[in-house]
Amino acid sequence: MTNNPVITIDGPTASGKGTVAQLAAQALNFHYLDSGALYRLTALSALRKKVALDDEPGVAALAMQLPCRFAGQQIWLGDDNVTDTIRTEEIGIAASKIAVLPQVRKALFQFQQDFCKPPGLIADGRDMGTVVFPKADLKIFLTASVFARADRRFKQLISKGFSANIEDLVQDLMERDERDQNRITAPLKPAPGAYLLDTTEMTVEQAVSVVLQQYAEKVAKRSI
Ligand code: DC
Repeated sequence: MTNNPVITIDGPTASGKGTVAQLAAQALNFHYLDSGALYRLTALSALRKKVALDDEPGVAALAMQLPCRFAGQQIWLGDDNVTDTIRTEEIGIAASKIAVLPQVRKALFQFQQDFCKPPGLIADGRDMGTVVFPKADLKIFLTASVFARADRRFKQLISKGFSANIEDLVQDLMERDERDQNRITAPLKPAPGAYLLDTTEMTVEQAVSVVLQQYAEKVAKRSI
């Protein structure tokens, strides 16, 4: 762990935490870690290499040596640009299955901590504040109602040219929430001291400004 400032934003699937985290990172000129992308890349890698999603040592071995690269908004797995592929529902569901495996989480732990570089980091995921960056300067738990999240995911998928059905999305989100919240290792829950941010009735800009304001308050308190 370093002394670089860290902000964690945890929350359920499609809560908008990725968008909020990226915009807040831009505003602060911080690095950004999309930890969900690492689970999605691991799942894609397993599917491509025909490793069963419940083969814990097999999937963990892939996670330990993920040949991935982040270049701005683009994500690469080996020579393949997988930016859109990893956002499909199929990969999201596969990611939530491999994310229950403790050896896989362990394999990705150091990889995630290595993103913490000067001048600072905003990390989003499920266990950023509880497990990976427990000493973060600011921890946010960002939620929205399941219907608001399904609606956002629906619009996102359609805008990318994927087909989508709102009832199926609600069902998938509820199943994924259930898996994320009830797994034994690093379940999704607010970190102690986390600021609870419900964005159901908020725009992205409003949510970003709450995060920046909370961070400014922490920095001000620290420098007193
Ligand atoms: O945030 P996302 O939808 O891209 O995450 C994909 C899956 O990865 C999600 O079902 C849970 C898992 N995940 C996790 O277990 N821990 C994290 N820190 C990030 C994601």
